Amino acid sequence: MTKLKFFTLAASLALSVFCANAQAQTTPAAQAAGYVAASGQPAQAARGQEFFTTKHGKDWSCSTCHTAKPTVDGKHATTGKVISPLAPAANAQRFTDAAKTEKWFRRNCNDVVGRECTPAEKADVLTWLISLKP
Ligand code: HEC
Repeated sequence: MTKLKFFTLAASLALSVFCANAQAQTTPAAQAAGYVAASGQPAQAARGQEFFTTKHGKDWSCSTCHTAKPTVDGKHATTGKVISPLAPAANAQRFTDAAKTEKWFRRNCNDVVGRECTPAEKADVLTWLISLKP
């Protein structure tokens, strides 16, 4: 391979990696807007808080691991591992990666509710989390 060809290949590879990363980046507000659009109804922070802090027929609520005021560290119910705050105001990393958000919504909703959360439930929870101040 010539040097030029190698350089072109390396550059396009770097660019595609960069673009893939850029695409994955999002904001809490953008994700909330996506869930609101998918649910076809306005989000309600109070309903999100209620959903988050109550049990749904199983052992845990969301607040079991994330606390009822997720501007502070949580603690995993079984492993005891510290979970950094879920509220974006207390943790700038939160809800900036749509794949991560979806992965954990899926896993945690299954644990707590026994099914995936609906777009409306995600919209309500995220809207409530966004409204929290440290
Ligand atoms: C058994 C403990 C546990 C319970 C219960 C739990 N979570 Fe989590 N949650 C975690 C862990 C562990 C992570 C991943 C570690 C991290 O991101 O700090 C996480 C991460 C998340 C994330 C990722 C946020 C992001 O984009 O960074 C969301 C959203 C979330 N949880 C929502 C919920 C909701 C909603 C419920 C209730 C339906 C819930 N969790 C219940 C342990 C739990």
